[in-house]
Amino acid sequence: MFADNVEKVLISEEEIVSRCKELGAQISKDYEGKDPIIIGLLKGSVPFMAELIKNITIDCEMEFMAVSSYSGVESMGDVKIVKDLDRSIKGENVLIVEDIVDTGKTLEKVKELLYSKGAKSVKVVSLLDKPSRRIVDIEAEYVGFSIPDAFVIGFGLDFNQKYRNLPFVGVLKEECYK
Ligand code: IMP
Repeated sequence: MFADNVEKVLISEEEIVSRCKELGAQISKDYEGKDPIIIGLLKGSVPFMAELIKNITIDCEMEFMAVSSYSGVESMGDVKIVKDLDRSIKGENVLIVEDIVDTGKTLEKVKELLYSKGAKSVKVVSLLDKPSRRIVDIEAEYVGFSIPDAFVIGFGLDFNQKYRNLPFVGVLKEECYK
């Protein structure tokens, strides 16, 4: 069974659902009257974004963007736009939804790009944060859970495009990639 490759469950579905309620309430308060454009980075952010936006109680718009930076378990250190936004974000307050901040390279590039498109403000909400792996000096304004340095899968996070559909965040067995 595919879930046999999970070493252990790190964060349960219940914990994620509950944290999304808190994050949604905070974001709704902070963005009151600002009509943010919420941009999900495909594909990892999809389950988290779906859960989060149910708890956002102000007017907002949803957009998606795809960048590529990873292959297997290692960052390629090179961020490419694979799918661009469908609308202009000039003068808009933008909130990026990410699955995990690891080295920080992806976010640095994406933030740079969104500012170059004329965004008024660019902030980040990330389901997970791995602060011990950071190379670039960047932080998400809103973080679901801070986790230790382990390769995690589930709730959007993949290993070679698989396991995104697990309803929890789990640690991938080392034997799968060693
Ligand atoms: P960064 O540019 O190093 O911060 O990488 C961010 C991207 O790397 C995330 O959006 C994920 O797609 C991927 N990534 C980083 N760590 C993990 C992990 O533990 N599991 C799955 N994907 C990861």
